[in-house]
Amino acid sequence: MARRTKVYEGKAKVLYEGPEPGTLVQYFKDDATAFNAEKKAVVDGKGVLNNRLSEFFMAGLNAIGVPTHFIRRINMREQLIRAVEMIPVEVVVRNVAAGSLSKRLGIEEGTALPRPIVEFYFKDDALGDPLVSEEHIVAFGWASQQDLDDMVSLALRVNDFLSGVMLGVGIRLVDFKIEVGRIWDGDFQRLIVADEISPDSCRLWDVKTGQRLDKDVFRRDLGDLADAYTEVARRLGVLPSNATHLTKPTLIN
Ligand code: TMP
Ligand code: ASP
Repeated sequence: MARRTKVYEGKAKVLYEGPEPGTLVQYFKDDATAFNAEKKAVVDGKGVLNNRLSEFFMAGLNAIGVPTHFIRRINMREQLIRAVEMIPVEVVVRNVAAGSLSKRLGIEEGTALPRPIVEFYFKDDALGDPLVSEEHIVAFGWASQQDLDDMVSLALRVNDFLSGVMLGVGIRLVDFKIEVGRIWDGDFQRLIVADEISPDSCRLWDVKTGQRLDKDVFRRDLGDLADAYTEVARRLGVLPSNATHLTKPTLIN
């Protein structure tokens, strides 16, 4: 059987040519990295969980009219997506101080922010994805001012949707990161949510206990990462409630 053509391999995912022009297959690996890949591990089942969770969030966004690259899930580890021209910027939205914001500005982790704060990071591993301003992005041509306005508006709509969904299952959406891509319909272009939305790219805290249910479990050695992601998936109903890790077959009643 002819192997699919690999288009790109990142730290957590591989992209293959899709079945039709304008599509790609996105494969979720079990690899976990942190601190620009200084810390690495293979976490059994993480790819399966993130494929499912990203499907859940992206399909939900599509359903409320926030455009994303997601078309459909193909199997346990793969989904069909629209090919986009990636904007080389990570868009972070923060509702609660944590992580690099707390460190940079000396705000205690867990402090509610007066309003959602949107930040941009330039996607460049060699530079460690530095924080940049809109001025940098426009001046260096990574995106236009109109693109930036559209990115902020997409990011805030994602924030409202994700915050609500998470709160409904007892999880506080502290912050998250999205990536955005450009698609063309003839001469007309627009920006859509791309990459993934999963506990790899969010901070998720249990509302009652503050327990971390995201990649900080791995970054800070707080326990079993797959257990944390499984808990998120179970609460959202994307896993049968008796499932633990998805690496073994599970009896479904
Ligand atoms: P930060 O506090 O480390 O800047 O992270 C903010 C949010 O962005 C957090 O939810 C984790 C996510 N994130 C990524 O998805 N990828 C990254 O490379 C980094 C640094 C953060
Ligand atoms: N930047 C990602 C993180 O820390 C992964 C990595 O840098 O290797 O979440």
